[in-house]
Amino acid sequence: MSDTPQTMRAVQLLNYDGRPESISFVENLPVPRPGPGQVLVKVAASPINPSDLAFLAGMYGFKKPLPTVPGFEGSGTVVANGSGTMARFLRGKPVACTVADAKIPGGMWAEYVVTSAQMCIPLAKNITMEQGAMMLVNPISAWAMVDEARKAEHKAIVQTAAASALGKMVVRLAKRFSLPVINVVRRPEQVELLRQIGAEHILDSSTADFDAKLKDLCQQLSATYGIDAVAGELTGRVLRAQPKGSRMFVYGGLSLKSCEIEPGSLIFEGKVVAGFWVSAWLARKSLLEKLRIAKQVQALLTTDLKSEVQAQLPLQEAAKAIEQYMKHMSAGKVLIIP
Ligand SMILES: NC(=O)c1ccc[n+]([C@@H]2O[C@H](COP(=O)([O-])OP(=O)(O)OC[C@H]3O[C@@H](n4cnc5c(N)ncnc54)[C@H](OP(=O)(O)O)[C@@H]3O)[C@@H](O)[C@H]2O)c1
Repeated sequence: MSDTPQTMRAVQLLNYDGRPESISFVENLPVPRPGPGQVLVKVAASPINPSDLAFLAGMYGFKKPLPTVPGFEGSGTVVANGSGTMARFLRGKPVACTVADAKIPGGMWAEYVVTSAQMCIPLAKNITMEQGAMMLVNPISAWAMVDEARKAEHKAIVQTAAASALGKMVVRLAKRFSLPVINVVRRPEQVELLRQIGAEHILDSSTADFDAKLKDLCQQLSATYGIDAVAGELTGRVLRAQPKGSRMFVYGGLSLKSCEIEPGSLIFEGKVVAGFWVSAWLARKSLLEKLRIAKQVQALLTTDLKSEVQAQLPLQEAAKAIEQYMKHMSAGKVLIIP
């Protein structure tokens, strides 16, 4: 800790109302100290994800006491550690880390962050801080959902918000395993975007014949595994199109609406709707399994699980960074760089 300053620059969230005025930049926040089992990370980069937007608006799965530093995931170097084997092992290493846990008070949009050593993954030599910063939320989720579909021997996947960073990962990963994907997007430009990365089945939900085409494709390819990041009426429309006995995992709520599902889909067609949350999925894995997953994900981080970056902005421009990201979500991640 000897070289670490006493204070740091950071972004602070003052209110859970999603308003730009509730985000402020501060220059003299005390640098947090790692406790037992924790590490202090000098932050290199942190993306803005939909989960961060939900958190800022008070709509995530938990809230932290205010004021708090936002930013759920990122990369950096471990510069100090508390007690514990894992915390000691990580000292000096470049890591991907997350603070998406109600018990961790701080966030990644700062020069330094304290997190649990269990929530850090050492970065392989070929992984840049930029790609490492975006490793723990989307790549692991995409990997998990495609892996679950393969293990349960589903013949095809149908996914919504397919032009998202995660959606593109699902497209590339499923292709690697010869698993067809039906991609639902909401704008014609996104159809072209997905064509460029090799997607085969793409449907625009804004077109008049969308429901009929979706049903035909889902039945033809036997798309019994659905993954939905939009919620609202789209969940029910996709579920209706899927074959009897299908599974649908809702993992995002981009429409900010409740899922609308016809009871008949559940009662008479044996379809099941459940949620997917990467934090809970990872928590069910042993340390050994987590390390195996981290190795597999890192091996694909510059190819199938790559994230595009549209801009990099400093901490003091966090509000501008959020605005830019919200206007152009399909154009890639906006990284916050301390
Ligand atoms: N549950 C979990 O564990 C977990 C883990 C990782 C990610 N996620 C979720 O995965 C989703 C994708 O994340 P990401 O980082 O890949 O997103 P992203 O790259 O920022 O892209 C978001 C995409 O969603 C589209 N979109 C936004 N609002 C929409 C709406 N109302 N209807 C349809 N499409 C909409 C955007 O299209 P436009 O360009 O047209 O706006 C864009 O293509 C998010 O919901 C996120 O919360 C969940």
